Amino acid sequence: MKKKLITAIAVAAMAVSLAACSSTKGGGDASGAAASGDCNVGISMPTRSLERWINDGEQLQKQLKDAGCTVDLQYADNKTDQQISQIQNQVAGGAKILVIAAVDGSTLGPVLDEAKAQNATVIAYDRLINGSKNVDYYATFDNYKVGQLQGQFIEDQLGLKTGAGPFNLEPFAGSPDDNNAKFFFSGAWDVLQPYVQSGKLVVPSGKAPASDADWASIGIQGWASDKAQAEMDNRLSSFYTGGKKVNVVLSPNDSLAIGIEASLKSAGYTAGADYPIITGQDADKANVKAILDGTQAMTVWKDTRALGDRVFQMIQSIKNGQQPETNDTTTYNNGVKVVPAYLLTPEVVTKDTVQSKLIDSGFLKASDVGL
Ligand code: BGC
Repeated sequence: MKKKLITAIAVAAMAVSLAACSSTKGGGDASGAAASGDCNVGISMPTRSLERWINDGEQLQKQLKDAGCTVDLQYADNKTDQQISQIQNQVAGGAKILVIAAVDGSTLGPVLDEAKAQNATVIAYDRLINGSKNVDYYATFDNYKVGQLQGQFIEDQLGLKTGAGPFNLEPFAGSPDDNNAKFFFSGAWDVLQPYVQSGKLVVPSGKAPASDADWASIGIQGWASDKAQAEMDNRLSSFYTGGKKVNVVLSPNDSLAIGIEASLKSAGYTAGADYPIITGQDADKANVKAILDGTQAMTVWKDTRALGDRVFQMIQSIKNGQQPETNDTTTYNNGVKVVPAYLLTPEVVTKDTVQSKLIDSGFLKASDVGL
């Protein structure tokens, strides 16, 4: 009799705690995960073909494992279907927190519905996930600022503010399915387009989007180096005849810059006075070497360790039943809601600051870049 009573009390207590759990979960309320005390995390990264995603995934995985969490880290080969089925497996494996850098930010709605059905908290990592109410938080760098730094670098280096020009510019944009790419482009184009309009920047290929909104017309699918190289080959062979030279290339990231640099090399450009200014982003090793040997002018460095730390802190807060800290609640509207975001600050790195910013901070080893 006594035993039965104790069992009944235990069952009732459990029911109360489960009810509390389900009534507090969802819609960004983190207290559910805390109530379960669960730290089962699924991390979904887009590809291993870029250094940054390998570092991002492995660092976060280590931090979480060291903190006693169960972690499943997956890479999707830049394939949407693969990413969806990897996330489905994580949900089936009981993931309570999902950290997702989307391959295509518009395709994850249905799988996030499945995740929410088991009260998982969803953090969009670096790239926003669009068209779903089930995105709780977003951690990224200030993506508009990344492009703005590239545009301002070009403006400064060419002396555009003081009336220099005209210069031949070839602009590129990132992958049309990546929500970040339009922010990168508009940050840069808002600086550069006035000079295109005034004739101080000329785009011989004609590939100058009429407005920020037309950026995808020059987007390179999948951020692929070989596609950027082929595009640059076409522009050079069709529009740079009779000794015409390209003076500046707006490249939104390092993987595109690598392809563009290969194209320029095969067209006979060598580092030195008439080598174009080329921008980048990520501080990949090959690009930092290019900066040191004079075939790339700059990269926008995003210290991915800081992004990993920020997401780790978000997960700690969620585990503890607190709201993660955010610092931007207006910019990132995913079409259904404005996702509360934490934005980190990107920085320019040039030949003069490779040592002080990248090596001294331990982001890269001197031997990685031939120093
Ligand atoms: C990231 C960049 C990266 C690009 C290609 C973007 O979403 O923010 O850092 O270069 O994807 O992977």
